[in-house]
Amino acid sequence: MILQQALHQSHEYAKKVVRKGDTVIDATCGNGHDTLFLAGLVGDSGKVYAFDIQKEALCNTRKRLLDGGMINRCTLIHDGHENMHRYIKEPVKLVMFNLGYRPGGDHAICTKGETTFKAIRTALDLLVVNGLIVLVIYHGGDSGFEERDYLLKELPNLDSTRAVVMMTNFINLPNNPPILVCIEKIR
Ligand SMILES: C[S@@+](CC[C@H](N)C(=O)[O-])C[C@H]1O[C@@H](n2cnc3c(N)ncnc32)[C@H](O)[C@@H]1O
Repeated sequence: MILQQALHQSHEYAKKVVRKGDTVIDATCGNGHDTLFLAGLVGDSGKVYAFDIQKEALCNTRKRLLDGGMINRCTLIHDGHENMHRYIKEPVKLVMFNLGYRPGGDHAICTKGETTFKAIRTALDLLVVNGLIVLVIYHGGDSGFEERDYLLKELPNLDSTRAVVMMTNFINLPNNPPILVCIEKIR
């Protein structure tokens, strides 16, 4: 199939904007797959800040980065992404949110619409012009619909002179495939 799932598309957009030496954020590091991917994109002169509220997520991410030889360019932060402004003072090129619960973990520990949206607003302040926020929104099943509904209600209200918001969704597939949202800062 030529059309790809949201997670794959989020990585393709990341590849388009991130260059060696850039600073980026993984807002939900989980088991570390995305952190490792981003660490590869920024190279050894770049920087990845990765957040999660679960200690186990940070342990799994640390191990994956150690195994991949990329731990030195990453800072792992045990805190909610809504507090990212407390840790990051430099401009960033990309912020990735892979929402929902951690595969293999407690499905009740998951991202929430209010805190995710707060983090998106903060991320917009940290982004450079033409920097991107990419969100993969899971819905249905154990994820439910609350976070999706909250974000799809609030995202259209972002100031369109400052940021543009694009949503990509499969509209005829079963089992609620994840939704991709990309936000580009334009001013
Ligand atoms: C779908 S998983 C992320 C998967 C991950 N990117 C990977 O590559 O394995 C979502 C993660 O978000 C975390 N999370 C939930 N609320 C959070 C918050 N407020 N700030 C940061 N992380 C949060 C969960 O603990 C969970 O590990």
